[in-house]
Amino acid sequence: MAESTRRPLISANWKMNLNHLEALKVVQELSYLVSKDDVDEVDITIHPPFTDLRTVQTALESDKIPFYLGAQNVHEAESGAFTGEVSAPMLSKLNVRYVIVGHSERRQIFGETDAVINKKVKAVVKNEMRPILCVGETQEQRDSGEAESVVTQQLQACLKGLKEDQLEHLTLAYEPIWAIGTGNTASADDAQEMCALVRSVVASEFSSEVADVTRIQYGGSVKPTNAAELLNKPDIDGALVGGASLEAQSFAQIVQFRLHDFEAL
Ligand code: 13P
Repeated sequence: MAESTRRPLISANWKMNLNHLEALKVVQELSYLVSKDDVDEVDITIHPPFTDLRTVQTALESDKIPFYLGAQNVHEAESGAFTGEVSAPMLSKLNVRYVIVGHSERRQIFGETDAVINKKVKAVVKNEMRPILCVGETQEQRDSGEAESVVTQQLQACLKGLKEDQLEHLTLAYEPIWAIGTGNTASADDAQEMCALVRSVVASEFSSEVADVTRIQYGGSVKPTNAAELLNKPDIDGALVGGASLEAQSFAQIVQFRLHDFEAL
């Protein structure tokens, strides 16, 4: 299938930062900095905290800002007695298009297992949104040579039971845990190697047709200075950006990675 379907997907994961007023300001600033040419080439998703979603949705729709709305998490059930949780139908009703699932912070801090993440991926797909499924190894796992087996097992478990036609809008994000929020980006060659592995797992679990069109993001200390080198790698189709997405200027520079000579920044 055509590789051209793998348009770069650049995602802003704001984590637990920016209240709804601050969110509005960043989105508006970003809409001035990002040009039509940029959105012709790149898909942009903004993943604010739940409390900001309605505000950001309204801003995107009323001002016709061509960014997709995203969420950072979802509960696997449709509704019920789950105090503090938010369901996929609720997100879908806000025109959320992309949902991050299985972020390492959810796994490590909140104890999410592959089995739960698998249910969340299914809930997102069932509600006609697009999962961004995160996988990645710890520093210890990398040091002991287990990075590839850890990521392979995460993918197998989190995608279990999905059918090929449910993977049409799947994005995978390779986020090595040691690179998140540390300033230690994976080298572009290491990130490429792991993203190629992720693609090969999709090929062996499903088919090479699915693998060829699945977008694979790299995440972990992506900045304007390293975005181009990472995104120019053949198996890296986008970036999941944390810290550098909180300011419009730096996120816009990442979105515009094609225009920047990374040596010069
Ligand atoms: P940083 O870009 O802050 O390292 O965060 C990456 C991340 O976790 C995105 O989901």
